[in-house]
Amino acid sequence: MSSTVTDTRGLAGQTIGETQICSVNQTQLIYRGYEIADLAANASFEEVSYLLLVGHKPSAGELAEFKKTLVGMRSIPQSVTDAITHIAQESPGTHPMGVVRTAISLLGHLDAECEDNSAEAELRKSMRLLASIPTCIGVHQRALEGKSPIDPDPTLDHAANLLWCMTGEKPGEIAAKVMDVSLILYAEHDFNASTFTCRVIASTNSDLHSAVCGGVGALKGNLHGGANEAAMEMLADIMKDTEDGSMTVDAWMQRAFAEKRKLMGFGHRVYKNGDHRAGILRQWGLKYAAEENASARKWFDLGDAVQGIMLDQKNIHPNVDFPCGMTYFAMGIPVPQYTPIFVASRITGWCAHIMEQHANNRIIRPLAEYSGPPLQQWNG
Ligand code: SDX
Repeated sequence: MSSTVTDTRGLAGQTIGETQICSVNQTQLIYRGYEIADLAANASFEEVSYLLLVGHKPSAGELAEFKKTLVGMRSIPQSVTDAITHIAQESPGTHPMGVVRTAISLLGHLDAECEDNSAEAELRKSMRLLASIPTCIGVHQRALEGKSPIDPDPTLDHAANLLWCMTGEKPGEIAAKVMDVSLILYAEHDFNASTFTCRVIASTNSDLHSAVCGGVGALKGNLHGGANEAAMEMLADIMKDTEDGSMTVDAWMQRAFAEKRKLMGFGHRVYKNGDHRAGILRQWGLKYAAEENASARKWFDLGDAVQGIMLDQKNIHPNVDFPCGMTYFAMGIPVPQYTPIFVASRITGWCAHIMEQHANNRIIRPLAEYSGPPLQQWNG
């Protein structure tokens, strides 16, 4: 794909490989041929996970078997539960993304197929991580609240079980649906920074767990997945400074522009006319607020004001992380768990790319242009 991008730092505009998994462009976001709005409206996260990991839309029988297998993989070893609990008690300030990274690393040590890079073993390992990451998130959040872990609920679908593991309450229909849609929207996005990290690690013939740990490390940053938390924190700052009328939202934004601040949840390396996922998630967030939490509407109103100023004055659109912050906040999800929930979804895209890389591999090793000191003699 030829590119009109002039500033190629960060590989901007560079097509550096091929994938059959996803297409991200100005007009569409497609997972293996299916457009994101179609999937968000008509599929479940389990169906999308199967599509990404196995490669085709599941039949009813394939889906039932896949869901049953995932349910059976949700439990984690007691040693992993103990480690997560220990971290929460001894170091409550450890970022949940660090805890998820550690949990996945520990799960790798305890996975008998960890060093097996065959397609069959990697699909099983992918499913084990997909099934058990919500359990890890739940153990950590409950430990931070001084509560004991609860077992995953085999009667609940994936998204509902994730909420159950964190709260110990069976979510209502709309909460489960909004979470399911958000997981579909977050699942895959071609060569984004964390997925490309996974592919680079996989390209050395390293194992799936090592590659996924790298992906978690990349997603943690606030220029990438960490932006969903940072966007909510930014909105909370704006609300605090403007709610009493002492400052207008526009004045807050002008100050941010003057300070050349990066407004979290806005902009995108690829999308320059808007993120196809943002509008979908915003609608579901508004629906949740209308049905379950009317007091949360003020966050969406504030978000719309911020979004309007960004568009009018900077021509910069929100990305999926902006509505995610407001939506998860309306649902009462603790802010530091937003990016771990992103992991619980993106594990599907990461593993699909790791398997694709291993299936047709050549080590990823680009060139660098040297701009250091000229040749000199050490004893000159
Ligand atoms: C995700 O790549 C993916 O697909 C990622 C993702 C996925 O699903 O995997 O979509 C998920 O990571 C979404 C992005 C979440 N990150 C944020 O919301 C953080 C805030 N956004 C920016 O840091 C930025 O927009 C990036 C990191 C998303 C994109 O960075 P680029 O492509 O390098 O763009 P840039 O920083 O060079 O910005 C171009 C111009 C600059 O102005 P100048 O310095 O040239 O005058 O636009 C400005 C930037 O200052 N700009 C912003 C801005 N984003 C760009 N100005 C203020 N606030 C912003 N958010």
